[in-house]
Amino acid sequence: NYYAVIMAGGVGSRFWPVSRTSYPKQFIDIAGTGTSLIQATYQRFKDIVPEENIYILTNEKYRELVKEQLKGIQYHQVLCEPVMRNTAPCIAYACHKIAALDPEAAIVVAPSDHLILNTSQFTKDVSNALQTASENNCLITLGIQPSRPDTGYGYIRFSDHLLGNGFRKVQQFTEKPDKERAEAFLGSGEYLWNAGIFIWSAAEVLKAFDQHLPEMNSLFEDAKEIYNTPEEAEFLTQNYGQCQNISIDYGIMEQADNVYVLPVEFGWSDLGTWASLYTLAQKDEHENVVVPSGSAILYNSSGCMINLPAGKKIVVKGLKDYIIAESNNTLMIVPRNSEQEVKQVVADVKSTF
Ligand code: GDD
Ligand code: MG
Repeated sequence: NYYAVIMAGGVGSRFWPVSRTSYPKQFIDIAGTGTSLIQATYQRFKDIVPEENIYILTNEKYRELVKEQLKGIQYHQVLCEPVMRNTAPCIAYACHKIAALDPEAAIVVAPSDHLILNTSQFTKDVSNALQTASENNCLITLGIQPSRPDTGYGYIRFSDHLLGNGFRKVQQFTEKPDKERAEAFLGSGEYLWNAGIFIWSAAEVLKAFDQHLPEMNSLFEDAKEIYNTPEEAEFLTQNYGQCQNISIDYGIMEQADNVYVLPVEFGWSDLGTWASLYTLAQKDEHENVVVPSGSAILYNSSGCMINLPAGKKIVVKGLKDYIIAESNNTLMIVPRNSEQEVKQVVADVKSTF
């Protein structure tokens, strides 16, 4: 049987000040499509797996937001972590829980904050990957043709060794390389970006956890009797915080040697940063973007990404390649090429204001 796990526990700090810890970007219509990112993600998976097999993996503090935004969802489909420990622990938990119900499960694990334009192609590729993962002992990821030396992604070096149906053996997985390496990877033409969407059988991913993150694996393995019982929540409260804080990319994907990639083209973008939204958005004749609804008068300015709420006005003169974002009475002005550093800015803000 096929399952989908949607990860929605991140705080989207690189989209500050619009994305906040109390209302992160996956719950916002950041691209202006008419639905929030998590609603669009849920809708996509309804075409691929039975609706009752979709799980949302999030933080306890977002349970109500999830319930509000995803009308069809049942209480038991929302898995809540008591504290944030990045993606490896939450995936270990969800996959153990699903395996306890259905040892034969094949699972797609996906972020909640991506934009996908061609949903029918997405359905085809993910269905193909689910079938392949349930028939082979491998971990599958989807690969995107890279277009710039972005340091916020995982880079996948693939070989010609094929599994069938277009799947290629991964030789090396490098999470978030520095600028220099990202440029070299891009220049070589031998790398794809990791889309952050993973497909595997429950058995195979748990084997990988056992091998590469054994402590984390035993914690959730030893609890298998209590999944789907009233003791589960108490178990999480007592134990989840002990997990190592590490992402699936560093913890498993960089380590495993049975990883395959399916190169895909379904109009993917990771709405990870202001610059990624800038790339997508409609620009004026000076390459400026003003969203979603504020008004701007721009003189002698180009390449600016301006995000203003309704009713706000701005006048800008002589600025080139800047991000200007306002939300909740907070205004941020930073150069567009330092967008990865917004994360640090947010940390400084928290300790200063
Ligand atoms: N439940 C839960 N708990 N979800 C989390 C947590 C957590 O502790 N931390 C992050 N998430 C969610 C985020 O909300 C997001 O939907 C997803 O997991 C991925 O986390 P990000 O923090 O956005 O990861 P990233 O963008 O830096 O990198 C990943 O995605 C890239 C593509 O978008 C990696 O997989 C990269 O290799 C990949 O290229
Ligand atoms: Mg992301």
